[in-house]
Amino acid sequence: MRLDGKRAVVTGGASGIGRATALRLVAEGSEVWVGDLDEAGGEALVAEAGGRIHFLRTDVTDAGQIEALMRAPGQQTGGELDIAFNNAGAGGAREGIAEIAPDDWDRTQALLLRSVALGIRYAAPLMAKAGGGAIVNTSSVSALGTGYAPIAYSTAKAGVLHLTKLAAAELARDNIRVNAVVPGFITTNIFTRHLDVGEEKRAAANQAIAAIAAQAQPVQRAGRPEDIAAAVAYLASDDAAFVTGTHILVDGGMTIGTRASWDPQSPSLFSALEAFQ
Ligand code: NAI
Repeated sequence: MRLDGKRAVVTGGASGIGRATALRLVAEGSEVWVGDLDEAGGEALVAEAGGRIHFLRTDVTDAGQIEALMRAPGQQTGGELDIAFNNAGAGGAREGIAEIAPDDWDRTQALLLRSVALGIRYAAPLMAKAGGGAIVNTSSVSALGTGYAPIAYSTAKAGVLHLTKLAAAELARDNIRVNAVVPGFITTNIFTRHLDVGEEKRAAANQAIAAIAAQAQPVQRAGRPEDIAAAVAYLASDDAAFVTGTHILVDGGMTIGTRASWDPQSPSLFSALEAFQ
């Protein structure tokens, strides 16, 4: 198996993309330490994975807790760390640039950008000791353009892409590769959490999200956490041994171009002018 004997850390692994990735890394031979705020979700995953996944309650806005999570595999197995997936996140502040409160801006950057920087900060020395490793960070299509997510979130995700390149340049000498994954619209709980949808309405909201998700991009189905997990597993493996400082876009073609280029129902200049031909 590609990741036989590897020790991996996954942040935000109690749900969605992180959860699917933890399971995929285990399926490929790795042992995984999941860090997340959600203890119930973390414990449910541990029960499902039969001893190959460990859970540590972790707040990625706390530097000490990130360091403890990165050190956990070494402390529990005597080995060091091979793979780190810096993925935990949420929608952050919703306000526009003309309204956002300074503290809300800071909190969003701390959750989505500082956490990734500190994940790399504490993973890299351990990986260097082990002779190398692979780091994967979660960015977003919102790093590439407007209209996908709020401004504080999108700015942080753009920062993740640049941080990925800079860290890759610094850490190559220690045989550590650093890459990012750029998800499009993936059906997870992030949307209902962001909009504070109550428990009783969550199932209906998730159905509405699934219907929109299937039509949000050229590939005519909803994006799944497993789609992202497959890209992360590749980047974490030796199949990507010559790949560093870059990202993989997993968006079903969402960022190809204007909607009219792939959706025949979408109004375009040409469809508007048909009446005059
Ligand atoms: P999710 O809500 O299913 O999972 C996010 C996990 O992060 C949750 O388990 C949550 O408890 C955890 N988390 C939140 N704040 C935390 C903190 N301070 N410390 C530790 N854990 C914390 O959402 P999803 O979609 O799986 O999100 C994973 C990553 O993917 C996030 O970084 C998100 O921004 C990114 N992403 C998601 C997209 C989507 O369409 N679902 C698109 C692009 C990026």
